[in-house]
Amino acid sequence: MLLITGATGTTGREVVRLLTDRGAAFRAMSRTPTGDQVHGDHTDPASLDRAMEGVDAVFLLGPGTSDAPSYDLALLDAAKHADVRKVVKLGAIPVGPIGARHRPGEEAARAFPVWTLLRPSMFATNSLQWVPQVAAGEPIPNPMGTTRFGIVDPRDLAEVAVRALLDDDHHGRTYTLTGPELLNVPEQVAVLSELLGRTLSTVDLPLEALPAEYAEGLRAALSGEGSFLSGDVADVLGRPARGYATWARENYPGLAST
Ligand SMILES: NC(=O)c1ccc[n+]([C@@H]2O[C@H](COP(=O)([O-])OP(=O)(O)OC[C@H]3O[C@@H](n4cnc5c(N)ncnc54)[C@H](OP(=O)(O)O)[C@@H]3O)[C@@H](O)[C@H]2O)c1
Repeated sequence: MLLITGATGTTGREVVRLLTDRGAAFRAMSRTPTGDQVHGDHTDPASLDRAMEGVDAVFLLGPGTSDAPSYDLALLDAAKHADVRKVVKLGAIPVGPIGARHRPGEEAARAFPVWTLLRPSMFATNSLQWVPQVAAGEPIPNPMGTTRFGIVDPRDLAEVAVRALLDDDHHGRTYTLTGPELLNVPEQVAVLSELLGRTLSTVDLPLEALPAEYAEGLRAALSGEGSFLSGDVADVLGRPARGYATWARENYPGLAST
């Protein structure tokens, strides 16, 4: 039995879809469960104990906020009490405060008999935040200047996570998960412009205009320390990582159904 946390989010939803396709036995956790999901909240240890009953492996994905350490440690504490054997934890490329928020959970995950750490770069799905500006023909606010990131498709993250959950060959591995190319925001917007057949533009946004917690994480990322590519998606999946244009063609509103 697998427990999928973060099951209602961007990556977790995809993990659930892939496991369903494979006929795997799993439980999907949410604070507000629907259907056959189970209730679990990191601030309610009894709910985590119930969610962990009879579980062999956990996919650990939580908010990347300053809550991340307490979320991860509460989940892993419950997993330890339930004798869970395997933990697959999704964190982030270890840069600045965001990397630091995932470190306690990564350390705790390493104490399990079988563990795999997934460290993704910026998600392609972040550009869904621009949908209102794209729809209105307004400039897209860009707080990231020209810093490039190895934009990764969360579907690739989910596929790697499912491999690690179903197969012990990934024990003890830390995978850095990026897409196949480094892109900055204006370059992502240029891809969308071409695919949508419309001219889209960006407008620089000072970090000070963002919520403090988000700005703090971004400031470190803008140093370029996390601007690199990794071949881990291709190594694990045996095929190239999906590029940003592929993600956009298959997911961006106005493009996805064409
Ligand atoms: N976005 C990026 O560019 C990026 C880059 C690198 C790493 N990351 C990392 O990726 C993770 C976010 O992944 P995502 O975008 O796939 O997730 P997401 O869409 O933000 O969803 C977050 C999930 O966490 C669950 N959750 C939040 N608080 C919870 C709590 N108190 N107890 C139980 N569950 C809780 C939510 O479930 P319910 O609401 O159903 O309870 C939801 O399913 C973060 O750890 C972040 O650091 C993101």
